[in-house]
Amino acid sequence: MRYSAMIDSVGHYLPKKIVNNFDLEKRTDTTDEWIKTRTGMFERHFVDDSEAASDLAFKATENAIYNSNTTKKQDIDMIIVGTVSGDHPFPSTACILQKKLGLKDIPAFDVSAGCAGFIYALDIAKQYIESGIYETILVLGVEILSRLINWEDRSTNVLFGDGAGAVIIKRTQSHSISKILESKITSDASEWELLVQKGGGSRIPATQESIRQNLHTIYMEGNKIYKYAVKSMTSVTQEVLKKSNFSVKEVDWVIPHQANLRIIESVADKLNVPMDKVIVTIERFANTSSSSVPIAMSVAIKQNQVRRGDVVVLTAFGAGLTFGAILLRY
Ligand code: ACO
Repeated sequence: MRYSAMIDSVGHYLPKKIVNNFDLEKRTDTTDEWIKTRTGMFERHFVDDSEAASDLAFKATENAIYNSNTTKKQDIDMIIVGTVSGDHPFPSTACILQKKLGLKDIPAFDVSAGCAGFIYALDIAKQYIESGIYETILVLGVEILSRLINWEDRSTNVLFGDGAGAVIIKRTQSHSISKILESKITSDASEWELLVQKGGGSRIPATQESIRQNLHTIYMEGNKIYKYAVKSMTSVTQEVLKKSNFSVKEVDWVIPHQANLRIIESVADKLNVPMDKVIVTIERFANTSSSSVPIAMSVAIKQNQVRRGDVVVLTAFGAGLTFGAILLRY
C-alpha cells in the first residue's frame, strides 16, 4: 500500500500584546517610515513575561484541533516543533508541549533550522507518514524572538515578532486529491556565521561578559542574508515544481517566509508569480521566524483565500543557512 501525507487542519496563536512601529520609535533609533519602506512591517505581537514558546504552541495546537473535523489530540502519533527560541536549551519544546497535551508514549522533538524550521519539520513528518510508520503528526513552528532581540542594534531589533502555527498532518491514499506533492529541504552552511545567536551554547556559555556584549541575542548581516534569501527561496521553489512536473501557472498560492516584503516581491517576480497569488502577513506580524509560514497559511485558510484543492507552495530560508520548499494540494 502506498501512502501520502495530507494537511488535515491548521491553526495559529499570536500573543495579545501588539507593538507597532511608533512604539519602536520610542525604544530605538528608527522611524515608522524606514521600517515600512525597507521591510513592509507595521505591527508585531510580543509575549508578556509569563509566556514561553510551549504556551504559544499549546494554544496553536488547540486551534488546529478545533479546526479539524476528524482529529482528536489522542490521535497524535508524533510531535515535531521547528524553533530556535524554545522554553529551554533542553528539553525540547515538543516534549514540554507533549506534557501540556497530556499525551504519553509518542516521539516528540524540536528541529533547529532557523526560519526554515517549519518546512524542515513538515518534510520529516511527510517521510514518517509516507513510510506507513505513523498516521497523524502534529507539526509546529513556534518562536519568541522578542526575547532574543538586541535592543542596541536597530538593523535587527525592528524586524521580529512572536507567534505559533500548528498543522496536523494525516495519512491519506496516494490517489487522494489533497496531499503533499513534493518536498525539498537543504542547507548551505558555508556562511552560517551571517545569522547566529553567538552565546548560550557550548561555544560561548553564559557569563557576565557574554551578557554585557549582547551575545545571547540575534546577530545578522542583513544585506548578505537578503541576497541569499531571494536566491535560495527562488531556486528551491523552482526545483520542487520541476520535480513534480508542475508549471508555475498551476500554482494557486505561494506562502513564503515573511522576512521582508521586498524579499517576497523579488522572489515572486523571479518565479513569475503575480503578488495577488502570494500570501503576505508581514505588515501585521513582522518576521516570526519558523512560525511565519504556518501562521500565514492558517490566516489564509481562515480568510477563505486558500481552499481545499488549491495548489500551494510553501518556501522558507533561515539560519544555517537552511532553505526548503513544499508543494501541496490543500
Ligand atoms: N531604522 C532606521 N534606519 C536604519 C535601521 C532602522 N531600524 N536599520 C538600519 N538603518 C539604516 C542603516 O544604518 C543604513 O544607514 P546608512 O545608509 O546611513 O549607513 C541604512 O538604514 C541602510 O541599511 P541597510 O542595512 O543597507 O538596509 P537594507 O535596505 O538592507 O535593510 C534589512 C535592512 C531590513 C535588515 C534587510 O537587509 C533585510 O531584510 N535582510 C534580510 C533579513 C532576513 O531576511 N532575515 C531572516 C532571517 S531571521 C532568522 O532566521 C531568525
